[in-house]
Amino acid sequence: MRLHGCRVVRIVAQWEDLLPSCTSTRIVGRFSSRMWGILTRTTFKMGMEKTSGLVRPVSATKLAGRFLAHQEGLPSLPVPALQQTCDRYLAVLEPIVETEKLKRTRELVTDFQKAGGMGERLQKSLEKRAQGTENWLSDWWVLCAYLDYRLPVVIHSNPGLLLPRFDFRDKQGQLRHAAKLIAGVLDFKAQVDNETLPVEHMGRRPLCMNQYYQLLSSCRVPGIHRDSVVNHAKGPTASRHMVVAHHNQFFTLDVYNGDGSPLNEDQLLVQLRKICEASPQSSEEPVGILTSQDRNVWGKAYLELIKDPTNKESVEAIQRSIFTLSLDSMSHHALGETDHSGAAQQMLHGGGSHLNSGNRWFDKTLQFILGEDGMFGLNYEHAPAEGPPIVALIDHVEECMKKADMAHSPTSPLPAPRKLHFNITPDIRRHIEEAKLHLNTMVQQLDLKLLVFKHFGKNIPKSFKMSPDAFIQIGLQLAYYRLHQKPCSTYESASLRMFRLGRTDTIRSASTDSSNFAKAFDDPGKKNAEKVALLERAIKAHRAYTEMAIQGQAIDRHLLGLKLQAIEEQVSLPEIFTDPSYAAAMHFKMSTSQVPAKSDCVMCFGPVVEDGYGVCYNPKDKHINLVVSSFSTCQETDTGRMVQGVEAALLDMRTLLESTPKAKL
Ligand code: COA
Repeated sequence: MRLHGCRVVRIVAQWEDLLPSCTSTRIVGRFSSRMWGILTRTTFKMGMEKTSGLVRPVSATKLAGRFLAHQEGLPSLPVPALQQTCDRYLAVLEPIVETEKLKRTRELVTDFQKAGGMGERLQKSLEKRAQGTENWLSDWWVLCAYLDYRLPVVIHSNPGLLLPRFDFRDKQGQLRHAAKLIAGVLDFKAQVDNETLPVEHMGRRPLCMNQYYQLLSSCRVPGIHRDSVVNHAKGPTASRHMVVAHHNQFFTLDVYNGDGSPLNEDQLLVQLRKICEASPQSSEEPVGILTSQDRNVWGKAYLELIKDPTNKESVEAIQRSIFTLSLDSMSHHALGETDHSGAAQQMLHGGGSHLNSGNRWFDKTLQFILGEDGMFGLNYEHAPAEGPPIVALIDHVEECMKKADMAHSPTSPLPAPRKLHFNITPDIRRHIEEAKLHLNTMVQQLDLKLLVFKHFGKNIPKSFKMSPDAFIQIGLQLAYYRLHQKPCSTYESASLRMFRLGRTDTIRSASTDSSNFAKAFDDPGKKNAEKVALLERAIKAHRAYTEMAIQGQAIDRHLLGLKLQAIEEQVSLPEIFTDPSYAAAMHFKMSTSQVPAKSDCVMCFGPVVEDGYGVCYNPKDKHINLVVSSFSTCQETDTGRMVQGVEAALLDMRTLLESTPKAKL
């Protein structure tokens, strides 16, 4: 089982290092609200702008210290009250655990939280930890959710993001768009570097912007038992190059002129052409495929690989790069023009070693992908950030790419991009062959489908005064119940970015109310008015849990904190954590996430348990983009049926509301 979700790297320390030692961050903090007042981007949605216009940097002038000032002003993540979490934990178990088991769990929970008991002791330690750290959870979270996680990052951790296909179908079109894409990313980077990135808000509350400062120039590095993340965004040795992958070969491309200005689109186009001319076919070993292996296997192969100084230099050039861009080959023979599911798979895993999986470096935080057939998207390594900042970046890049070509004055010739060489020993060749086999099996075993639900979007739930996200989540509960005749432990990511260095907590979408609704829906003995009342209750319960989660009062991260505290204090693990109910609660058969965007994109990821589904969606006003995945090795799950089930559930819920007079109030 994988700890789900959304993770952190503690790179803020690097920002602190950059502050002159005499600077009082507290003093800077006092000026922050006025300064932010002028520069704030008001968002009503996570990671996107409310207005349709592209937010431009307010000023090209660097606003040094602005980031820290903002961060200083954010509240710390609270530690919820012990009794509150215990009560809510029992409530969460009700729909997913049998009565007998639950009886035993109640006893364990009572014992855990009794005065002077283990719960109280761990809670006190946790509160102390919270006082002494910027965020009591974030360091732990990034380790247990990401860096200690040993399954491959491909499918199991890295999400893919698919955007609408461009209308070119040739190399020329690919390279022209690639040049624009790179220019767009550099334009975004300027806002990050200048600290002019508009602050996002949820409602009126400003959000932590730390993740934006970790996206570029970052990379995961494999280890034998634990990975790490490097970041080269700042300082005198800050990255000035990107890496382009073409035909499984890697090239460094310097993206700044000597005067510090970014290369313009014409310059980039010339450089990209040189790369393609230097790599006319995939004649070499696909070294990048090593990054798709189990982390321990890749960790060992990595040590072997970097023994050779040339290889070490090449790997470090990729790790240090601002981002990578995979110029993929045609996959028309595999994908039809409307095969959106196949395109999403390309973003998630590259389609296998015979297609584009070798043209990747899956450890790279930001890996853009542009196919010769117009396919466009990215794959990202999850440790430094969640989906919303990634999507905000891609929204910006997409806007930039829509702009007409600009005429640039001729510039002096640039040195050719440098090919990254690898010396392949027989041992490394063996590792590559094993990685190919392993990846191809994973690709075969993942059943992923993209649904463009065209019947309605956020508009319909809103017209019934219901939260669209809650409506979709209850639709998922109904679809699952119809397929499996019981509810399952369900995870939805909730943002904790209202707090400094906040990442995510879990919204538990399977509630007693959602279960009552799902059970009643197809019961011919129930009247429609009754079903509507149950639907309203389920939606209300979901919205209430969401509110609680984004305020830092959900149960999952608190329980994790108590458990990790016990491990840290080397006391025997309290029985509530070895109880079968806890295992059931943590076995998320539905792992879901809303990642809204201005662009018509959708994110995708694999399930987190063998017998589960991964579901990610982007609700637009009049349609919903949704991707479902499951493992074909599991007899119990079926992506195709789940997709049909979700479509039917959402339509049935609308019909119910429209045909029931009470709902029209
Ligand atoms: N009546 C009418 N409209 C309503 C409504 C109601 N009762 N409730 C909500 N709405 C509106 C909202 O105002 C909003 O309007 P907009 O489209 O103009 O922006 C819209 O419906 C969407 O609201 P809702 O569906 O309730 O979702 P949300 O935007 O509050 O998002 C979460 C909910 C949980 C997704 C969000 O809080 C969150 O945490 N997102 C981060 C998830 C994340 O990190 N994912 C990535 C993991 S990799």
